[in-house]
Amino acid sequence: MSKIVAIHSFRGGTGKSNTTANLSVLIARAGNRVGIIDTDIHSPGIHVIFGRKPESFHHTLNDYLHGKCSIKQAAYDVTESAIGRVGPDDERPRIFLIPSSIEVGEIAKVLREGYDVARLNDGFQDLLHDLKLDYLMIDTHPGVNEETLLSIAIANSFVLILRPDSQDFQGTAVTLELARRLDVERIQVIVNKIPPSMDRELLREQVESGYQAPVIGMLPLCNEMAELASSGVFSNSHPDHPLTRELVRIADQIMN
Ligand SMILES: Nc1ncnc2c1ncn2[C@@H]1O[C@H](COP(=O)(O)OP(=O)(O)OP(=O)(O)O)[C@@H](O)[C@H]1O
Ligand SMILES: [Mg+2]
Repeated sequence: MSKIVAIHSFRGGTGKSNTTANLSVLIARAGNRVGIIDTDIHSPGIHVIFGRKPESFHHTLNDYLHGKCSIKQAAYDVTESAIGRVGPDDERPRIFLIPSSIEVGEIAKVLREGYDVARLNDGFQDLLHDLKLDYLMIDTHPGVNEETLLSIAIANSFVLILRPDSQDFQGTAVTLELARRLDVERIQVIVNKIPPSMDRELLREQVESGYQAPVIGMLPLCNEMAELASSGVFSNSHPDHPLTRELVRIADQIMN
């Protein structure tokens, strides 16, 4: 059965896009067909991590939302660059990316006119069906907005990322309350950018008892990730790094 996984945070810059990219690659490597959709229409970017230039996109999520193409036409197969192996089209593993437009005019249009959120939901369902996906990973815009509400409402798994930061703690509590009111099936928490000097176990206990939600990953703040600077998929370039090992454990928990 296919699964929709939404990766979200209340505040920006927590590591959603890099975590989504890495988990998608690891889940695909485990033998799955994975779609990644960039619903951060106001400030898209996950295509950069996959080394894709905006000019290479004939269609984007924006075109689909404005009725100019099917969602499948805005899906790009990135399997070869992401995991280096490609068999026939309908085989596993496979990774597809559905980017949002980085053009000023397109972003302004969405800000000005909005879009039909129900159409986004139809697009998710079409992707699962048309691309025969095992997983659809949603990279979201931070904060609480219409896409967040939709992602929460339809996700089988809602993954919240926060940093060990007082502003993040407070904001995450708001999002969690919302998710509980919307009866989300499964809520999981990842703490990212943990400084080496911090007591990880104490932090885990504080987050779990404070939120009454399982922490599925504790990711260290590390120079190698900062230096990679979103120019690639970390788990590909650093397969033996402790951060990659923790990402593998998170991917396993999402798949179970
Ligand atoms: N564990 C980490 N250690 C060091 N740097 C990290 C770590 N995780 C992410 N980063 C860096 O933090 C920055 C923000 O990451 P990313 O774009 O994935 O976050 P985001 O939550 O998607 O941001 P936005 O809210 O703007 O979409 C990037 O430069 C990334 O390389
Ligand atoms: Mg992002």
